[in-house]
Amino acid sequence: MRITIFGTGYVGLVTGTCLADAGHDVLCVDVDPAKVEALNQGQVPIYEPGLAPMVARNRQEGRLSFTTDAEAGVAFGSLQFIAVGTPPDEDGSADLRYVLAVAATIGRHLDDYKLVINKSTVPVGTVDKVRAAIAAELQQRGRDIEFDVCSNPEFLKEGAAIEDFTRGARIVVGTESGRVRELMRECYGPYNWNHDKLIFMDPRSAELTKYAANAMLATKISFMNEMANLAERLDADIEHVRLGIGSDPRIGYHFIYPGCGYGGSCFPKDVQALARTARDVGYDAHILTAVDAVNQRQKASLYDKLAAAFDGDLAGRTVAVWGLAFKPNTDDMREAPSRVLMEAVWAAGGKIRAYDPEASRECRRLYGDRPDLEVVAHRHEALEGADALVICTEWKEFRVADFATIKSALTTPVIVDGRNLYEPEAVRKAGLLYFAVGRGNRV
Ligand code: UGA
Repeated sequence: MRITIFGTGYVGLVTGTCLADAGHDVLCVDVDPAKVEALNQGQVPIYEPGLAPMVARNRQEGRLSFTTDAEAGVAFGSLQFIAVGTPPDEDGSADLRYVLAVAATIGRHLDDYKLVINKSTVPVGTVDKVRAAIAAELQQRGRDIEFDVCSNPEFLKEGAAIEDFTRGARIVVGTESGRVRELMRECYGPYNWNHDKLIFMDPRSAELTKYAANAMLATKISFMNEMANLAERLDADIEHVRLGIGSDPRIGYHFIYPGCGYGGSCFPKDVQALARTARDVGYDAHILTAVDAVNQRQKASLYDKLAAAFDGDLAGRTVAVWGLAFKPNTDDMREAPSRVLMEAVWAAGGKIRAYDPEASRECRRLYGDRPDLEVVAHRHEALEGADALVICTEWKEFRVADFATIKSALTTPVIVDGRNLYEPEAVRKAGLLYFAVGRGNRV
């Protein structure tokens, strides 16, 4: 099939590349000429395991290319994916400006039947808005051309996006048209093996499915963080509790790791947007607002523990930070707990020496040159001259640590671990004060 993808951000690039890899001919359109130029030279702007070689292979084989020419994009694909960003508005709802601009572009250049597919995470009812935007352009041109619009939310995890795309648990399609169902079956055919993963439903339910999935996952995390905070105050150990509850198959072991709060471009934004949608229809979504509030408090807890260990005075102190990305295997620092920690340390007059295997460049881009931030190239370098260590991301390389080296490098033997990487006993035996999450170690 010939497929056009609007937007070469995270979702668009992974979708386009994986569909090309399945044998389709894919043209990706983006408004950013520098990005398109770089992609056409094989440079992938994001860090995602396995993506760069896949882009290179499919470009070489002539199935994948990039352009800024939207008109050519509309002419190219019988399927037109919209995968542009939906940043949060000031009030927390998703900003549809870019999605509707693409819809208008499609309407302006449409010449024959096309299926338009909403891949972006968009509020319930957006399929109707996209349809209306395309129809308005056609009407203005005095043209009567058939087209369909469906919803096809993505469920990719950063760091595992290719695996999720090619071996995902489900492919949700929101449509009421038999023609669309057939086209989507053909599009995803190469990845729809083992058992039928296509789940068809009406567009509104598909749109809500995306939010409900993320809100449910975020709820699990905030719930566990709340239990961890309780465990700290009750001298219980959340790790035992996690094993104890996860063994019940109705609860399960997945996604119940307590930590320093969820970040990234999806959970915080989507939970807030759904709460906002609920308010718009006159419903007060108590669970959603609580999930968000617990998460914000959890992100602040790293600093609270650190400050308590220094009697509330961090002025002039240097804090080593291991991990800046919101989770491992990505360089993404959007809504990362590390940012809440660093900003609080700076506000208190402290300095940061940070290390992350992938996110150094992103950190420098976000915060620029400042005297109270040093981003270093090795985790042990971060400890030099530091008063305490805070772990914000569970990169694999942090899991094995030489506590004796850490202790001798730090001027004060304090580790605040937002990811429960170590056995508290082992750390304490090495003479360090260890403040993890929910492990009976309240400062
Ligand atoms: C999330 C969803 O997992 C995807 O299914 C969804 O497609 C995506 O959002 C999206 O809407 O695009 P992602 O944001 O890449 O994917 O990251 P996750 O791996 O889900 O992690 C999210 C956050 O939750 C991270 O900050 C992570 O540290 C935290 N987390 C996760 C926990 O604190 N505990 C856990 O047990 C699991």
